[in-house]
This record gives sequence, structure tokens and C-alpha cells, in this order.
Amino acid sequence: MKKSEYRASWECPSNIAMVKYWGKKPAQLPMNPSLSFSLKKARTTTTVELQTAPKRTVEFLFEGQPSPFVKRIENYLSTMSIEHNWLNNFSFNIESSNTFPHSAGIASSASAFGALALCLNDIKQQVLSRQFTETQFLQKASRWARMGSGSACRSIYPGFALWGRMNGFPNSTDCNAIAVDEQFHSDYYLLHDAVLMVDSGTKQVSSSAGHNLMNSHPFKDARIAQASMDLQELIKAMKAGDHTRFFELVEREALSLHAMMMTSDPSYLLLHPNSLKVVKKIQAFRQQTGLAVGFTIDAGPNIHLLYFGYDKSKVHAFIETELMDLLEDGKWLDDRIGDGPIKL
Ligand code: DP6
Repeated sequence: MKKSEYRASWECPSNIAMVKYWGKKPAQLPMNPSLSFSLKKARTTTTVELQTAPKRTVEFLFEGQPSPFVKRIENYLSTMSIEHNWLNNFSFNIESSNTFPHSAGIASSASAFGALALCLNDIKQQVLSRQFTETQFLQKASRWARMGSGSACRSIYPGFALWGRMNGFPNSTDCNAIAVDEQFHSDYYLLHDAVLMVDSGTKQVSSSAGHNLMNSHPFKDARIAQASMDLQELIKAMKAGDHTRFFELVEREALSLHAMMMTSDPSYLLLHPNSLKVVKKIQAFRQQTGLAVGFTIDAGPNIHLLYFGYDKSKVHAFIETELMDLLEDGKWLDDRIGDGPIKL
């Protein structure tokens, strides 16, 4: 077996957005700023090995098997090689695995491109014999991740990540995410995300096609303005520990994302009847118990129930007794805010 010349291995989490990225400009720049937190358990592990070669070839194994995702990686490397010439001189052997099932309702492209971008920037340092500072390294990895999948740029940081130019955050930029250093109320560092599987079927519309629908959307400008306002207000609520306002804003963001899809041309209805039943049950549970719980939803039918760690046993009991019948095969998984990527 030939010895690989360069090698890197990273584990990177997925993330869940509270203010949603929806709509993009050329070169994967977001129409609006977004805010997310990294997950702890939902992670991708990727190993990249490079050997000098006359032209680039890519082999990709996902959980030990060849995978059609290889096409997306090939296209990605081909785009990145326009600016980063060194990518043309190697054969790539890439192996990847996830800690969560593919159809779990968790953004797998975020952790996948996060892990790949971290490996490639690690290898870049080896190939070019350069050492980046930690800040430079994370910023570059976030930029590279963004080029693969927009939301992936937020997976590079532990805790909360902000992507997109935002007043009041001088380091914020559309080109990469940044870690949010604001001191929030301590409860927000105990955020949990119970991912409730309503329907694991393939999506009617890919995220990329969904983003494109925003280009000519009649509510485009209003949506961009709303996301910036929601983000400012959300940060205020998180500093003040105003959980009521926090969940009002997070839920409205999720519903606004779906409202955009329902009113685009063509329009898409991605929610399942059980998605709405779950949402209604969460809202009723909040009203009856006074507990700080709420939901968010990505571009699909599954519901992310957000809560704070100190309410874990009550929330789990609620899921087990009231929601199981609405979930596909009773499937759900519990995750929480995490510490970001790890170099292996
Ligand atoms: C609804 O990052 O998957 O999850 O940039 O085309 O890869 P591409 O899209 P993607 O979009 C995710 C959108 C979202 C909201 C969010 O995560 O902010």
C-alpha cells in the first residue's frame, strides 16, 4: 500500500439555526445573517489522505461504502481549486462517518462540509509549510465550509455562531461565521435540542433549490429585514434571560422560513400534518406547565424541541407520553449545545 503524503482527521458537529439562513447571493453568500448553536452528539468524522498525482482524483467512502456524495465533493474541490491551486496536484482518499442516521432530521451537510474543510485546511498548512494562528485557522475553515454548504460555516465554532454581516458585531461578515462572545444568560449554555422525527422521507426540494426561490420572492426584502431584526432582538433576549421572548422569536423564525417556502413560486409545503400536531402539543405543554420550551424547524417536516437541561426529565416524560404516536416509528434523539470540532 502506498504511504499517504499528507493526512488529517477531524470530527465536526452539526448545528441548529435559531435565526435561519434562507436565500443566497453568488459564491454562497447569505442574503441575511443567521445565528445557530453547535450540537454535541450529532457529528461527522472525516479523514482525508493525499498523494501526489498528475491530476486530481477523488475516492470517497461513507461508513465504509462508496457514496454518491463523491460527486458533490468533486464539484466542491474543483470550485475550490480555482483559488487554491495546490488542490490540483493530488489524489484524495476521503473517509467519513456520522454519529447520527442520515434521515434523522439533522443537517448532515453542515457537519460533513465542516469536517472536510477542517481537514483540508489542516493539510493546507502541511502542504504549504505554514502554520496559521488558531483564529486564522478557524476563519479559513469556516470560509471553506461555507463554499460546500452555507450552514456548515457555523459548525466550526463551539457554542453560538453568527454568520453574516450584522450591526453591532464588527467582526461579523458574510464570508464566514464567527463565534459569538457575548455573555448570554447562563441558561442558554444548557440548551437542548430533542430532534423529533415526523417523516424521514426524501425532501421535495433541496436546500439549494429552496434558497434559489428567494431570488425572485415577492417577500424577499421583508424577509431579509425581519431576519436582521430578529437576530438583534434574540441577542437582547438571550442576554436578559427573557425566555418568553427567546421562544417567540425562535418559533417565528422557523415559521417564517416555511412561510417563505409556501409562498414561493413554485410553492412547497414541507410540513407534515403531524409536524403541526407536534408544534401545537409543544405550545400547549408550555402553557400548561409554564416550562421554557419551544420549537424550531429546518427545511423539512421534523421538529426540534428546544429546552433547558434542568427540565430534561419533565421534557422527556412529555415526549414519551404525548408525542410518541406522532413520530415516525416513535423515533427521536436528544442532543444539546456542544463544544465544537475536535482534531483527531
Ligand atoms: C433551513 O446550508 O443546507 O437549515 O448552502 O445550499 O448547502 P446550502 O444550504 P444549507 O441551508 C440550510 C438552511 C436551513 C437554515 C439554517 O441552517 O440556517
